[in-house]
Amino acid sequence: MIKLKTLDSINLRRSIRKFEDKPVPGELIEKLLALTVKAPSGKNIQPWRFVVIEGPKKQDLVNLLRKGAKTLQQQGINVGSCEWTAESMEQAPVIIMIYNGEGQPGDDRNGINRYQWSVNIQSIGGAIQTLLLAATALGLGTLWICDVFFAEEQISELLGRGDEMVAAVAVGYPAQSPEARPRKDWREVTSWVK
Ligand SMILES: Cc1cc2nc3c(=O)[nH]c(=O)nc-3n(C[C@H](O)[C@H](O)[C@H](O)COP(=O)(O)O)c2cc1C
Repeated sequence: MIKLKTLDSINLRRSIRKFEDKPVPGELIEKLLALTVKAPSGKNIQPWRFVVIEGPKKQDLVNLLRKGAKTLQQQGINVGSCEWTAESMEQAPVIIMIYNGEGQPGDDRNGINRYQWSVNIQSIGGAIQTLLLAATALGLGTLWICDVFFAEEQISELLGRGDEMVAAVAVGYPAQSPEARPRKDWREVTSWVK
């Protein structure tokens, strides 16, 4: 098993869109999630919820995504590169859906709960990044996915979820080693106030 230091994981992580046709052992996914929940969260609420999906249910999910995106497209809505995402999800042996157990779809995010909602979503974002870095350290490839929102209701219904969808992460053994994608220089996005 590959073991990397934190800085290596940060530097080497890439969005992986091609996966080997090779299952990920359940124990490795368990290990990944055990590391993921070490992420910090506001008031230690730990709002994250994970649904690990494999096999035929994963294909059902991808089919729903394709159908949902097609319907939206027919209504003139731009679904970007959703088909490309669906292909990556199809290849990945495991999809982890991530939910906010403290939220519900359609919550009023501009109302009084905005602060708590934001705290929970930030906490879940941190957990997702922890998952990605831990996966890199374990030799796994990942893709953080928000295109699942093109079939939000349908996917949540398939999984029997009443809480708030946040994202999906595709997990598998990478079948590609992409170059680092470009970034704005940190100086461009940072101001110093003294
Ligand atoms: C919140 C979020 C949502 C994303 N959603 C998708 C997605 O739906 N489909 C996809 O192919 N990539 C998705 N990505 C991956 C980004 O495209 C990718 O992180 C970015 O292009 C930089 O590449 P890198 O991750 O290899 O550094 C998402 C990333 C984030 C952080």
